[in-house]
Amino acid sequence: MTLALGVLVSGSGSNLEAILEAIARRELDAEVRLVVSNKRGAFALERAARRDVPTAFVDHEAFPTREAFDADVVSRLRGRGVEAVVLAGFMRIVTPVLLEAFPDRVVNIHPALLPAFPGVPGPRQALEYGVKVAGCTVHMVDAGVDTGPIVAQAAVPVLAGDTEASLAARLLREEHRILPRALAWLARGELVVERGAGRPRVRVPAS
Ligand code: GRF
Repeated sequence: MTLALGVLVSGSGSNLEAILEAIARRELDAEVRLVVSNKRGAFALERAARRDVPTAFVDHEAFPTREAFDADVVSRLRGRGVEAVVLAGFMRIVTPVLLEAFPDRVVNIHPALLPAFPGVPGPRQALEYGVKVAGCTVHMVDAGVDTGPIVAQAAVPVLAGDTEASLAARLLREEHRILPRALAWLARGELVVERGAGRPRVRVPAS
């Protein structure tokens, strides 16, 4: 069954593009039903429109609370039959209003090897700390900031002379690889959130 996705964005949308390309290549059995941006004029909206994917700009400043914003977004996503939500460069903290509407079906891509360097900006934090290996993480979203169970990670070296931009670019290439792959697992029903003792974990297919 083709998975109906909603993608929330705030910026360039290169991860959105990677998702759409994976769908076009039939590596991901999904359909992006709606792209929502909280930033007017985000390039992600243009990328979506070019591929005839429906878009919406929802100005978070027009809402009194995060919850009210999320409720509006949820109703738009539901209106399009969305089953799972991807935060692809969405620079807002989401609330239980969104999480409870799509239980275990909200996925985020973060440009750091969690649990190191949650929040923003991941690449700058890695450079400032002086780590020699950086990376990116796909995780299920929970009520914390970048704390949900990890689905997939990729590591990249930090090179002498790296700037925040050069490291971020190296990370993005990996993000574009692991996010569609994780979504393909989700679409095939192969992601299982296990809740036992300790932290929830995501069981993924053996690769
Ligand atoms: C990515 O680095 C993502 O990990 C972070 O924001 C950036 C978004 O890039 N959350 P893009 O909009 O997908 O190009």
